[in-house]
Amino acid sequence: MSAVQHVTVLGATGSIGLSTLDVIARHPERYQVFALTGFSRLAELQVLCVQHRPRYAVVPDDRSALDLQGRLRAAGLATEVLVGEEGLCAVAADAAVDYVMAAIVGAAGLKPTLAAVQAGKKVLLANKEALVMSGVLFMQAVKHSGAVLLPIDSEHNAIFQCLPGDYARGLQAIGVRRVLLTASGGPFRETPLAELERVTPEQACAHPNWSMGRKISVDSASMMNKGLEMIEACWLFDASPDQIEVVIHRQSVIHSLVDYVDGSVLAQLGNPDMRTPIAHALAWPERIDSGVSALDLFTVGRLDFERPDEQRFPCLRLAREAAQAGGSAPAMLNAANEVAVEAFLQRRIRFTDIARMIESVLNARPVRAVEALDAVFEADAQARELAAQWLAVR
Ligand SMILES: NC(=O)c1ccc[n+]([C@@H]2O[C@H](COP(=O)([O-])OP(=O)(O)OC[C@H]3O[C@@H](n4cnc5c(N)ncnc54)[C@H](OP(=O)(O)O)[C@@H]3O)[C@@H](O)[C@H]2O)c1
Repeated sequence: MSAVQHVTVLGATGSIGLSTLDVIARHPERYQVFALTGFSRLAELQVLCVQHRPRYAVVPDDRSALDLQGRLRAAGLATEVLVGEEGLCAVAADAAVDYVMAAIVGAAGLKPTLAAVQAGKKVLLANKEALVMSGVLFMQAVKHSGAVLLPIDSEHNAIFQCLPGDYARGLQAIGVRRVLLTASGGPFRETPLAELERVTPEQACAHPNWSMGRKISVDSASMMNKGLEMIEACWLFDASPDQIEVVIHRQSVIHSLVDYVDGSVLAQLGNPDMRTPIAHALAWPERIDSGVSALDLFTVGRLDFERPDEQRFPCLRLAREAAQAGGSAPAMLNAANEVAVEAFLQRRIRFTDIARMIESVLNARPVRAVEALDAVFEADAQARELAAQWLAVR
């Protein structure tokens, strides 16, 4: 790579955003930050702007923009502060941008991530919810614009690393029998089923291996994260849900595997640190230092595997059913899950209500075709309304 590459980090104040900036800061000769975006942690965004001196910062509203603009000017920075979804889409699609890290959490990331795709950028996809909601339209936009989609989820990044470069020919054509998606099983892998009713948001967010934002931590505890990842993998690798098998691997050292028809199984291993997939995607097809220490197999000692228990993790079944149903089902699943996780984090519902609420929302409306983005947002809005009703009457 010759010229310095300009990077927009959507969701810079989050866990993935900070890991991305850590990797970028190790390679100032390769990468320069073009734009940083935040939502509620605006003091942190200000600190990041001082450290990385982006051309743009994006905040959610005019008042925050005025405030941050004043502070940045006072600190002697020329950074221009933009506002809202329009600002997010502008910094994702700007002609000067080479890479976009899509690391906003949830449905809020869909429009800016799509803006990056439509502008033909190299898109580092952490925001799995965007792809889950709009799969077919998202992948059509990638094909149409020539954008390069690089998976950041450690599992999908691992699968990408285990596939040949021409995997777009189709899994069957390249001799893949199935994809094995690993999952840690989260903090409640062994909790007695009867106790799951009483687990707290703090317990759900205490992931045994990974340090992540609160929404994905709860998703990992319920295994909805693996369900969303299964749908994400179907779109990224043109697989059907039955070509993907979820394997509980409690050590989170193998990040996923690909099983070929000749009996070979390729895996990608590493310490559980998101800077590895981030550095891989940023430098691809080259390799750069990520700051992650070398894997010490003698310390790891052993690797265990188990089949997931769908009685313990009903969200996994709900996601598989939504993947099989297609159409509006994944967008509704995602939206109902976002409402349920937020309600659980606010202690309005129990952990076990998350799956109950999602199932009730999915059963309330027939699956519809989604031929345009409007239909995706309609399904999203309808699921949020049904979830709100569920919360109100329960
Ligand atoms: N963390 C991981 O290890 C990991 C691994 C694989 C995939 N992912 C995926 O990466 C994405 C980010 O996860 P995370 O763990 O980094 O989450 P996080 O720590 O909660 O960060 C989320 C980011 O999105 C911003 N944001 C939240 N709501 C927004 C809105 N309505 N509009 C604009 N920006 C908004 C947040 O801003 P403020 O902080 O300023 O509010 C923050 O910058 C998720 O889709 C997750 O599934 C994460």
